[in-house]
Amino acid sequence: MESYLETTIDVYKQAAEKPDVGLCCTTTPVWALPGLTMPKIMLEMNYGCGSTVNPRDLVNDPTILYVGIGGGMELLQFSYFSRKKGGVIGVDIVDEMLTACKENMKEAEASNEWFKPDFIDIRKGNALSLPVEDESIDIAAQNCLFNIFKAEDLKLALEEMYRVLKPRGRLVMSDPTCEQEMSDELRNDERLRALCLTGSIPLKDYIKMITDVGFGTVEVRAKRAYRVLSPNHYPTDDLIFIESVEVCAIKDPMPADGPCVFTGKTAIYYGNEDCFDDHKGHILLTNQPLAVCDKTAGALEALGRDDIYISDSTWFYDGGGCC
Ligand SMILES: C[S@@+](CC[C@H](N)C(=O)[O-])C[C@H]1O[C@@H](n2cnc3c(N)ncnc32)[C@H](O)[C@@H]1O
Repeated sequence: MESYLETTIDVYKQAAEKPDVGLCCTTTPVWALPGLTMPKIMLEMNYGCGSTVNPRDLVNDPTILYVGIGGGMELLQFSYFSRKKGGVIGVDIVDEMLTACKENMKEAEASNEWFKPDFIDIRKGNALSLPVEDESIDIAAQNCLFNIFKAEDLKLALEEMYRVLKPRGRLVMSDPTCEQEMSDELRNDERLRALCLTGSIPLKDYIKMITDVGFGTVEVRAKRAYRVLSPNHYPTDDLIFIESVEVCAIKDPMPADGPCVFTGKTAIYYGNEDCFDDHKGHILLTNQPLAVCDKTAGALEALGRDDIYISDSTWFYDGGGCC
């Protein structure tokens, strides 16, 4: 195993033994749900940088896989929707994290009458070689783990998620991304990388890694400020700004003309007809917004018309639209 992966294990061994409130997590509030009481320890061990739990992904009684379990907060949130034995599989490589999470689940059981610990099947395993059968999962999620991986390992981790997902299954992820260059000194600092500070890559590269593995559709659901690396605290001459994103990748067949990537663009037709039909499956009703993937946005723009407005990416996509 590469030494940065060992360092990562060490960092999270410590974070399991002694909760570290400032580690990874963002200040976005953890959403409350009716009848769900989140144990305090799970909040203190929230080492994620967004949310991967979306009720609209969780229809049709899905089997859910969650890789890199932390204190179990999102496992519990997924169980809230799944509520069946073994409905959520949690995988983590760090023994101490597995133990802490199991302990936290006992607290969750004491404060949530609907919850049974056997709703969650906690397994020891590596994101790079998942202990999960091929095509057995409907929703696979990870929060703030994959950004730590170097390119080859990130590819492996994404391939593993792709392997275990059923056709049309969804990979839901939250990770930091960074558009700026980082020095080798920052990149190679194993501890900073493990702390989710110096492994992040530009969003378009992150999306390309996902689509290169075969996911035919990608949705960018949210993007928000995450951290700065400032010269007074880190070995950098420039202020480096890091964001965090929430992304969903769908194991759709890859379209012949490339993946559909939704970044929150919208097309609005404002011509004199009732609608605009591009005869490629896209019908724009007059003055009605249609969410479009970047590929469709580009194709509509290329028509050079003066009666179609295309918005910029809002980095907020919540379903529907062209593809
Ligand atoms: C940044 S924490 C995120 C925890 C959790 N997802 C959350 O949002 O609170 C990373 C998690 O991944 C686990 N981990 C680290 N390396 C791993 C690997 N190679 N395979 C599986 N889990 C790993 C750590 O033990 C830790 O639980």
